Amino acid sequence: MPTWCATAIASPNIAFIKYWGNRDDALRLPANGSISMNLAGLETVTSIAFDPQLGNDEFVFDGVLQSGPALARVTTHLDRLRSKAGSILKARVESRNNFPLGAGIASSASGFAALTVAGAAALGLTLSERELSILARRESGSASRSIPAGYVEWYAAEADPDSYAESIAPPDHWALTDVIAIIDSRPKKTGSAEGNRLARTSPRQAARVADAPRRLAICRRAVREKDFTALAEILEEDTRLMHEVMRTSTPALNYLVPATEKFMRWIPAWRAQGLPVAFTIDAGPNIHCLCPMESAAEVERRLREIPAVERVLVAQPGGGARVELG
Ligand code: PMV
Repeated sequence: MPTWCATAIASPNIAFIKYWGNRDDALRLPANGSISMNLAGLETVTSIAFDPQLGNDEFVFDGVLQSGPALARVTTHLDRLRSKAGSILKARVESRNNFPLGAGIASSASGFAALTVAGAAALGLTLSERELSILARRESGSASRSIPAGYVEWYAAEADPDSYAESIAPPDHWALTDVIAIIDSRPKKTGSAEGNRLARTSPRQAARVADAPRRLAICRRAVREKDFTALAEILEEDTRLMHEVMRTSTPALNYLVPATEKFMRWIPAWRAQGLPVAFTIDAGPNIHCLCPMESAAEVERRLREIPAVERVLVAQPGGGARVELG
């Protein structure tokens, strides 16, 4: 195996308290902090080889050679790693997801977390988890949260070295389950990186950001103390606030479809009837149902009965991004 090769694995994450909007778009410093859970079993595996023979970077995703914006994002990120390592070598990057693209699961989080870890290892950089998280953040905010394991908080800060993610509880701390109902697997019209830049155009964003420390404190405590009732309320409140900002941006963004809005009424009703479950929704129409592991089978059964649901994925708390050895 040539010297400049490495493979890394990372999982996507689901945010309990959402990142939406930057205080600095160029550095991707978030307007507010966020908290998430990595999703075990869903993985991006990325191999990278820096090669003196190559004239340009190459990026193969799920077996297909990429060009245009997908390749440009990879090259931009590799430039950050190259400049840290003092290298000018071009790379061949091969990446695979074991979950369907467009399944409403942010593949940029696991994708750029895996690329950061694989790239740093291949270039012989010894970086701390914090440094890896900062680097991953630069290309995809949510990727910073896929570097540490389990339940993770990403800090908002004014300066680049202070905005990183760290684990607030390991994966085995609490067996929460994310039962994901895929309602529409078509790619979204406005990607989250572009949508994030529109957040500041909403008159609701300033209030959402100002209140974020309160929501973060409630969520952090709920995770630490495994208080599902508190988590459920704050999860849904935070989701509603983010989608309100999206809808009131210029241009307006609406990632939801009518079926999503029905779930937003049904799930709190299921909870009121005694089934511990709460929803959260990212920049897409699909519903993530968080519940204690004991309720996951019942939640999954109910979701599968609904014709609008194309498929259901189930994930428990996952580990952090890591180099694959051997
Ligand atoms: O980091 P990005 O560009 O994938 O944006 C992620 C934004 C949301 O998924 C909607 C919220 C979040 O915190 O993950």
